[in-house]
Amino acid sequence: MPLSELVSPGAANTNLETLITRKNNTLVIPEGLATIPCTHGIHRFAGKFIPNLPRYLLRELMPPMRTRVILDPFCGSGTTLVEAALEGKPFIGMDIDPLSVFISSAKTQLLSNNQLSTLEKFWAQHDFSKGHPEVIPAVPNINHWFTDKTLDELSSIKFRCKTLPPKLKLFSLVVFSSILRRVSNADDQTQKTYVSHTLPKTPPSPSVLFPRFLNRAIKGMREYASRLPTSPNGIVRQGDAANDIAALEFDDVITSPPYIDSIDYVYNQMLEYFWLLDELGIYSHKNYLAMRKQPMGFRTCTKNIATIFLKKYLTGAEESFETICSKIGEANPKEELTVRSFFFDYARHIEQVSAKQRKNGTYACIVGNSLIRGITVPTDDLVTRIHINAGYKLVAKYTYEIRRHYMKFPRRNNSGKIKQDYVLIFKA
Ligand SMILES: C[S@@+](CC[C@H](N)C(=O)[O-])C[C@H]1O[C@@H](n2cnc3c(N)ncnc32)[C@H](O)[C@@H]1O
Repeated sequence: MPLSELVSPGAANTNLETLITRKNNTLVIPEGLATIPCTHGIHRFAGKFIPNLPRYLLRELMPPMRTRVILDPFCGSGTTLVEAALEGKPFIGMDIDPLSVFISSAKTQLLSNNQLSTLEKFWAQHDFSKGHPEVIPAVPNINHWFTDKTLDELSSIKFRCKTLPPKLKLFSLVVFSSILRRVSNADDQTQKTYVSHTLPKTPPSPSVLFPRFLNRAIKGMREYASRLPTSPNGIVRQGDAANDIAALEFDDVITSPPYIDSIDYVYNQMLEYFWLLDELGIYSHKNYLAMRKQPMGFRTCTKNIATIFLKKYLTGAEESFETICSKIGEANPKEELTVRSFFFDYARHIEQVSAKQRKNGTYACIVGNSLIRGITVPTDDLVTRIHINAGYKLVAKYTYEIRRHYMKFPRRNNSGKIKQDYVLIFKA
């Protein structure tokens, strides 16, 4: 049965505000907007949407029918999916990164009040001093990241998570993973997982932080449950947006692909991976390292393959694209290939989406331009060109200012902070 037939109509969920307004082509996001209601705050994730943005898009720019399936093919931590569920719409989330799939699954699943009370009782009786060395990651320099006491306490939590039934285990493990960076010696402010010698840190202990984060997550889940107009109806799966779209049935898309060469999710979430390797089905450090080359913006394909394919999808922009690529290539040939591969993958993604998306379906894409080797890559224009060459119409283009950067430092010495994002609305 298609997902859309499983949706039962419920009352419109008007009690969560979008608070976003539009002034001409600018989306105005109020200063100090609280962004963590419901399950959104369970896990900190670089580059995630403020929930109000997909909520605004779902309400103002998407066809309103509850039967329309929303796809986010680069779902990250699942912000779009949670919002789709809150609007009573079926959803499909996809991400190449198993940790993203893990987090999104925990945030979109529904836990009943009874299950949450069971969880509260379960963790209230937890003895943090009962370490389980067998679940401590077998990483040679583990003490660089965690003190012995922290390792003991973390292992006590991880071990007990494993004894829970599947949905409660998933929820607890995601809360567990959300404290890892904080309780480690690694700096909290930067994307990169590194121990700063200039800003030494006194990390809180897991026995203090886990109960706090768990309580907050449970509160968020209760709010999510109370605001859902109908049971969440969706799936989250691991997959490659440039290859695995053909198997999906969907109507509308809300997504934000990664920025080129910007957030190295796999590297930046190293500690979370170390502790969850087995749960994520990765099993070895070697497999973990191989994953770093998988996401768009970090892959490279040959220049020839990219050029041949992109001829079709960048018609009308080939010349400017070539100029940008060769300028970047002069400074760093590998980065040139990264840029070429990024658009190659995006074009392959759109080729597949356009073959599946129903007529009049909406594709809302949030992108930011990148500054690579001092050269601006106009991602908004190039992405628009790809959509148009695949048969889409650009029906609206908005900008908004990024107010709250997750990270305080620029991404790299040779890159810059992205200050503005674009919301591109296409019709199939
Ligand atoms: C900007 S983030 C999305 C954040 C998301 N909107 C949120 O609110 O959490 C981009 C995501 O794209 C994923 N990604 C990168 N390459 C991909 C690919 N080829 N297929 C699917 N997902 C990919 C990354 O793992 C990352 O989670």
